[in-house]
Amino acid sequence: MRTLAWSEHFALGHERIDREHRRLLELSARIEAEAERAASVEDILPLCRDFFRLLVAHCFYEEQLLRKLPRDRFGDHVDEHCRGHARLIKQAQTVMTGHLPTGFESLPAFLDAYFELMHDLLVDDTELVGSLIREGYHRLGTPEASQSWLPFRGASPV
Ligand SMILES: [Fe+2]
Ligand SMILES: [Fe+2]
Repeated sequence: MRTLAWSEHFALGHERIDREHRRLLELSARIEAEAERAASVEDILPLCRDFFRLLVAHCFYEEQLLRKLPRDRFGDHVDEHCRGHARLIKQAQTVMTGHLPTGFESLPAFLDAYFELMHDLLVDDTELVGSLIREGYHRLGTPEASQSWLPFRGASPV
């Protein structure tokens, strides 16, 4: 099975996002370990519930930040990334009902695919959230944030 571990490679320098990524990875590793002993999806539900709650809150917060990036340069990338978040949330929602998402025959096969998608999104976060920090949009409610929606804004920060 694929085991994900936190590494400094994922550290972006954004306190809340880094903390939540780290916690999501810890919970994934526990879910993987538990799934090896589990007879059915029901056995891992309590852990999945913790994971799910954090995942939803994290994606919501991160998307609010990502939507501040100028759409002309980042719109497609951000939309694609948010679709990835939605896929993670939808599949986790199915597991919470005690079922495997369609197309998966076993819990290990599902978890492999699920954590692989999560890994890819984390790598993508390093790029997108990295851009947010570089361009100064990484705090909710900062004055720079609203400027990205104004037309005819001056030269973009480089
Ligand atoms: Fe994230
Ligand atoms: Fe993300």
